[in-house]
Amino acid sequence: MKLLVVNGPNLNLLGIREPEIYGRKTYEDLVAYIKACAEQGGDEVSFFQSNHEGALVDAIQQAYFDGVEGIVINPAAYTHTSVALLDALKGVGIPFVEVHISAVDEREDFRRVSYVRQAALACVAGKGFDGYPEAIEILREHHKGSVR
Ligand code: DQA
Repeated sequence: MKLLVVNGPNLNLLGIREPEIYGRKTYEDLVAYIKACAEQGGDEVSFFQSNHEGALVDAIQQAYFDGVEGIVINPAAYTHTSVALLDALKGVGIPFVEVHISAVDEREDFRRVSYVRQAALACVAGKGFDGYPEAIEILREHHKGSVR
């Protein structure tokens, strides 16, 4: 499968930002971990991180033209605010899984709202970095089912 992993605002600060919530490993550590897991399963994976909503929309649109077959997305704070990301994901029609490093449903009330969730195959939250390979596994299973 051709996969794209999209990370939203402030996830470039992993390792620095609120380590008691997000841990001490960096964004580069996260990329290396996901890449190893994806490639072990024979998948091709690329990565995109931005602090800007429009840049995230552009990357999702570009995924369509690049033939991406599955998206793992941690929209970070835009999870809770962005109709534009939901529309982009619905617009390209690429199956996607929503991931959060922290347990968003056990934090502040505003983090329980997710605009993208209604169109996601699944949401994996509260499993740290392991949520990303789990999301890839969900996409693989879905892909198997849809090409069968
Ligand atoms: C997050 C949770 C969001 O509420 C927060 O705004 C983030 C990261 C997570 O991975 O746990 O930036 O998506």
